[in-house]
Amino acid sequence: MKGIILAGGAGSRLKPMTTAVNKHLLSVYDKPLIYYPLATIMLSGVREIMFIVRPEDEASYRLLLGDGSAIGLKIDYCLQDQPRGIAEAFILARDFIGGDHVVLALGDNIFFGHALRGILEAARAYKDGATIFCYRVSDPERFGVAELDSQDRVIALVEKPEKPRSNYAVTGLYFYDPSVVRIAAGLKPSARGELEITDVNRQYLAEGRLRCRVLERGFAWLDTGTPDALLDAANYIATIERRQGLKIACIEEIAWRQGWIGDAHLARLADAQRNTEYGAYLSELPRIGR
Ligand code: DAU
Repeated sequence: MKGIILAGGAGSRLKPMTTAVNKHLLSVYDKPLIYYPLATIMLSGVREIMFIVRPEDEASYRLLLGDGSAIGLKIDYCLQDQPRGIAEAFILARDFIGGDHVVLALGDNIFFGHALRGILEAARAYKDGATIFCYRVSDPERFGVAELDSQDRVIALVEKPEKPRSNYAVTGLYFYDPSVVRIAAGLKPSARGELEITDVNRQYLAEGRLRCRVLERGFAWLDTGTPDALLDAANYIATIERRQGLKIACIEEIAWRQGWIGDAHLARLADAQRNTEYGAYLSELPRIGR
């Protein structure tokens, strides 16, 4: 399975923070926002990842993540010059996908909760169709909304409905079989001029091949779309990290726990960031234990 992380877009609701810095490079407490969706993809066991970024941000991403080999990944970059929609990812990354299954994570979505790894591995195991994840929110009109039956089967999907028929938002994490490339190629831009991910999912629904997993209460799906949401997310992460003494979405830690890098390699990564709290945490990991 391949992974795609969408990190383009204008970030216009976060200006002036995003005038000179890409939204996904802003900090959420102690690390850049982009680490969180990257951690989600890594927890699903996927190591070949394409980042879709704006041309003006490519150098920053390369500086931050390079080719991924430092944490046992293979990272490629693909440029999106205009935000023509989330589903354009599958057109831009067609050669990268190359007939494989693919997981797409939106660069501004943070997931945290018990058994996340198992949930992701289960979604990854399906050979046919698509899997989406829904989460109950108080403001569904801001999202793609899923109407579900009593067994959490999707009845209908609507992008940002004025009058939502349910409180279940479709989160920014999607698992697809290889037919997503064909489906994306057949899309027409929506009224707002974008290739909508909701239209991809509706096609799977029409074909009877869409699965939905509801992320229960007790699970955190955090939003970073406004200054308040960004601050709330940072406070949430800080609260849990300080309480437990464990970091959320520490990509070096995940690579080490997945067995993609060994102890000596981890020690070198820690050393490169010595004198920082983050580096100190990396050097503590062998003592904390697997
Ligand atoms: O966060 C979940 C929601 O994400 C879903 O419920 C919606 O169905 C889905 O359409 C999307 O809605 P948003 O309005 O939040 O999408 P936004 O335009 O903010 O873009 C989401 C991420 O994708 C953001 O990190 C920027 C990036 N992006 C977006 C577009 C349209 C790109 O990299 N390129 C693009 O062309």
